[in-house]
Amino acid sequence: MENDPKYVVTTSRRAGSDVLALARDKAAEWNLPYVDRAGVSLVDAVGDVDAVFIFDLDGMSLSTGESSLRFSLGTAALRLQSISRGEPETLMRAANLQPGDNVLDATLGLGHDSLVAARAVGSTGSITGVESSWPLYMLFKEGLLHYEAGDESSTVQPVFDDSRRFLESAEESSFDVVILDPMFANPKRSDGSFEVLRKFANPSSLDAAWVEMARRVAKRCVVVKSEREASWFSSEGLERVSSGGRVNWYWAPAGS
Ligand SMILES: C[S@@+](CC[C@H](N)C(=O)[O-])C[C@H]1O[C@@H](n2cnc3c(N)ncnc32)[C@H](O)[C@@H]1O
Repeated sequence: MENDPKYVVTTSRRAGSDVLALARDKAAEWNLPYVDRAGVSLVDAVGDVDAVFIFDLDGMSLSTGESSLRFSLGTAALRLQSISRGEPETLMRAANLQPGDNVLDATLGLGHDSLVAARAVGSTGSITGVESSWPLYMLFKEGLLHYEAGDESSTVQPVFDDSRRFLESAEESSFDVVILDPMFANPKRSDGSFEVLRKFANPSSLDAAWVEMARRVAKRCVVVKSEREASWFSSEGLERVSSGGRVNWYWAPAGS
């Protein structure tokens, strides 16, 4: 289709034969064109496209030509360390996450909250992460292949879907906790990789209907990250969880 985004798959310039073969296989699997780098610059190789999936020895990155984004733990690494040391971690505390919990992350993104939740619920728990941006969903899915969560963590099951639709068709009280962390309208960070995230992310903002859908599907609570408190938060049962960090976390009890 003419207006479909143009995505291509390629490799880093000096990729070896294994990486070349992997990139070709992925391109075929995803039904995307494969572009041979043949030692030329990325722009010369791929031309005018919306996004490039670049494979190299360390995995895959998502590039716009100017900036790129790679699966990484980022600040989630510190949060995971806190949990390992038995120290309080905000999401774990806000949702009162327990071993064995079944968590729905309705805004998967780079998967940081999902991976933290996976560690908090342990190997008997489960995390489902829903993402509606195909490039971001793929970035996380590929990143998981190179990520060692360890025995004390559950796995994260990524799902490519719109989470409003997913919530609508999910059974009532089918997840212990639902996490909502949509894109902020006025983000503070603006480095290159964050701009890649913003370019591909679903920009839809939090509203009361989304929180209500999440509360219907939650058995214990819904946890929300938001840049500010909207006027309707209290009528949806959302209360601020003190975090002390840069991000505001809110909690609402299950049940719409
Ligand atoms: C701020 S990021 C989430 C970051 C994530 N909590 C983390 O820790 O990495 C928001 C993500 O939610 C996704 N998103 C927004 N609306 C969505 C929807 N209706 N369904 C599924 N994903 C959605 C965006 O595409 C974006 O990737």
